[in-house]
Amino acid sequence: MIRANAICKSFAGKQVLSGIDLDIKPGMIFGLLGPSGAGKTTLIKIITGQLGFDSGDVTVFGKNVSDLTGTDKKQIGIMMDDHGVYDRLSCTDNLKIFADIYGIPHSKIISALEEVGLKDAAKKPAMKLSKGMRARLQLARVFMVSPKILFLDEPTSGLDPMTMKYIHKLIQNRKAAGCTIFLTTHNMEEATELCDEVALLNDGKIVDRGNPSEICRRYNHRKAISIHLKTGEDIRLPDGIESADKISSLLKQGKVETIHSSEPTLETVFIELTGRKLENDAEARYA
Ligand SMILES: Nc1ncnc2c1ncn2[C@@H]1O[C@H](COP(=O)(O)OP(=O)(O)O)[C@@H](O)[C@H]1O
Ligand SMILES: [Mg+2]
Repeated sequence: MIRANAICKSFAGKQVLSGIDLDIKPGMIFGLLGPSGAGKTTLIKIITGQLGFDSGDVTVFGKNVSDLTGTDKKQIGIMMDDHGVYDRLSCTDNLKIFADIYGIPHSKIISALEEVGLKDAAKKPAMKLSKGMRARLQLARVFMVSPKILFLDEPTSGLDPMTMKYIHKLIQNRKAAGCTIFLTTHNMEEATELCDEVALLNDGKIVDRGNPSEICRRYNHRKAISIHLKTGEDIRLPDGIESADKISSLLKQGKVETIHSSEPTLETVFIELTGRKLENDAEARYA
């Protein structure tokens, strides 16, 4: 669905992306993960044809980005930043403008607002929407084109956990409808929950990639089992045959509150690979 081969990009002599390879299969949720300034937005802009690049090649639907026709482009939905939302216009009027540009019948507007739970706010001006509602309006806009590929640049950045969950559900619904999704995030939990595959981007390079759980298992150097007992005590045992009797005995005595294997989280893996935390992008950007 999307292929990138050795993409390099620099701005004024500063290398921002170095040799990016991607192979995104139809129907998957792909997550590009990385801290602020890693190059996530730049890569989305390149893949969607909004920005040129220095070397390498990118294909979408098997065609070079520069060869995509108007019809191809209509099958691509892009949500980035705040653009495309007009503050003074109501939700419906915002979508009308977009529908007219894309030649989408106005009859789709109501169903798009319904899909994102904004039907009751249809007449509200965009400036009166909460941050989460605004994000949902942007999603309604991209959903309206019934895209085959959806690019979502930090769709949940700065949103409260409830709204975040709601948006995750909307993204999963789109996946169930057959859409391929490319999202960026610095939220590792989000990536672990949503993505079939992730690439970890740091300073313009992909430092590792794969299925989130598979990556975490791969970096499980410590191989330990953590047990929290009902008494409140925490025990760590080696993950091996030598611990089997002890664990079995604790379980039989009904002493175990929780038991976990100790594979690292995606966040820990990222820190191990890069020595840096995935700080909150929004805070970093507006600081
Ligand atoms: N138009 C531009 N001109 C110059 N530098 C840019 C431009 N856009 C992005 N950059 C730089 O490229 C790097 C990657 O930016 P970006 O792709 O926005 O990262 P992310 O989306 O991961 O936060 C940053 O160092 C940023 O300052
Ligand atoms: Mg960005």
